[in-house]
Amino acid sequence: MFLLGIGVFAVGIIVLVVIVSQSQKADAEATLTVSPSQVNLAALTFSPTSSLQGYIYGILPDYTIGALDELESPQSKAFTWLLEDLSLTSYYVEQEWRVLQRFAFATLYYSTGGPYWTKNDNWLSHVHHECTWYGSNSVAIPLRSGSQYFAVEHPNPCQLSNTTAIHHDKQGSDGIQDADVEYDAYKQLWLHRNNLTGHFPKEMFLLTSLKTMSFFGGPIGGTLPPPIGNLQDLQAAIISMLPLTGSLPSEIGMLSNLAIAIMDRNRLTGSFPAEIGMLTNLEILLIDGNQLSGTLPHQISRLSKLETLYLGSNSLSGTIPTEIGQLTSLGAFPVNNNALTGTIPSEIGNLNALTSLLLEGNKLTGTIPKEMTNFDPPQGAVYGFKLPNWIATNRIWAPLVLDANSPE
Ligand SMILES: *[C@@H]1O[C@H](CO)[C@@H](O)[C@H](O)[C@H]1NC(C)=O
Ligand SMILES: *[C@@H]1O[C@H](CO)[C@@H](O)[C@H](O)[C@H]1NC(C)=O
Repeated sequence: MFLLGIGVFAVGIIVLVVIVSQSQKADAEATLTVSPSQVNLAALTFSPTSSLQGYIYGILPDYTIGALDELESPQSKAFTWLLEDLSLTSYYVEQEWRVLQRFAFATLYYSTGGPYWTKNDNWLSHVHHECTWYGSNSVAIPLRSGSQYFAVEHPNPCQLSNTTAIHHDKQGSDGIQDADVEYDAYKQLWLHRNNLTGHFPKEMFLLTSLKTMSFFGGPIGGTLPPPIGNLQDLQAAIISMLPLTGSLPSEIGMLSNLAIAIMDRNRLTGSFPAEIGMLTNLEILLIDGNQLSGTLPHQISRLSKLETLYLGSNSLSGTIPTEIGQLTSLGAFPVNNNALTGTIPSEIGNLNALTSLLLEGNKLTGTIPKEMTNFDPPQGAVYGFKLPNWIATNRIWAPLVLDANSPE
């Protein structure tokens, strides 16, 4: 901890300088001060007399600087760990992103009970590249809509193969592909079911090269903070079955490459931000089993690639927006067990790809629109059209179209 005593950027740290013995201080300076012979100082923007800490402070976000005032914070521990890395001087000038990456990982580790993770091989080892630290290399998540599922594997989280990073098992499509051949920036952070506790630190979102992340089954919780919008390369996020609270930040709209968002069975509250409509690459959104309220924003109509939209078991209210009829790729739309009112929009009849629609457990009224007469889900679909149930709870009178559905 005395290493921090050299920092002169926070009042709390200045106090510590006073109690650091001269010999400790000398040792620390010998380790940490940049030697002009080691690096090209001309490339740096700070003066040669500034400390390495000063440089790191300069690249950290403001919210982290605040947390560094507290000596026992995960951020302070991460900072200390970073400075203890003797190889830091060999890469920090050319690879600022790597300093941030390692700081982000160390903060995540200290924020989430790293020593108690089920697996933490190599984590915070100064001698192993972070690309060799433990991360799960497979995940298989059955989707409850018939044959779709994810089966994923990767040998190196910093270099995704261009065949199947995340393979969406769907005829004629390989889901997410990746022709990236970079080795160093972390792409695929999979720490699901690994006894991560505590909460997601904001610093995690300094990992701006991430393409996929998986934390399901945590039990990590907390909220999704606005810096999540920094992950603009993110293609797939699996953040489900967690004690995750708070609302969806509007910054989520900045994740313009997001194709798969699995966020079911958390404790998310609040309403959908209108910015959800900016996720125009979204194919799968599973956010059922939360406590979302408010109306479904009409901006959802912009998600023209959306195939699967699970909204069931929330507290959504208002009417089903008529714009839903513009989601021509939509195959599965369970929105059962909410508080939706009004009638079923006839525009649902435009959804030719629709094989699964669940509306029971709402407060819908009216009749089944005649435009839906072609709706004929395949027998055996997990989320099939359970018509009797639907009639019972929504009081819908549908005299003409019963035969067009799959009767039980
Ligand atoms: C999970 O982590 C917590 C602390 O973070 C620890 O107390 C607990 O024993 C761990 N559980 C298992 C099964 O290792
Ligand atoms: C990656 O994809 C490109 C273009 O599709 C292809 O030419 C290349 O051979 C692939 N590389 C590997 C390792 O599969």
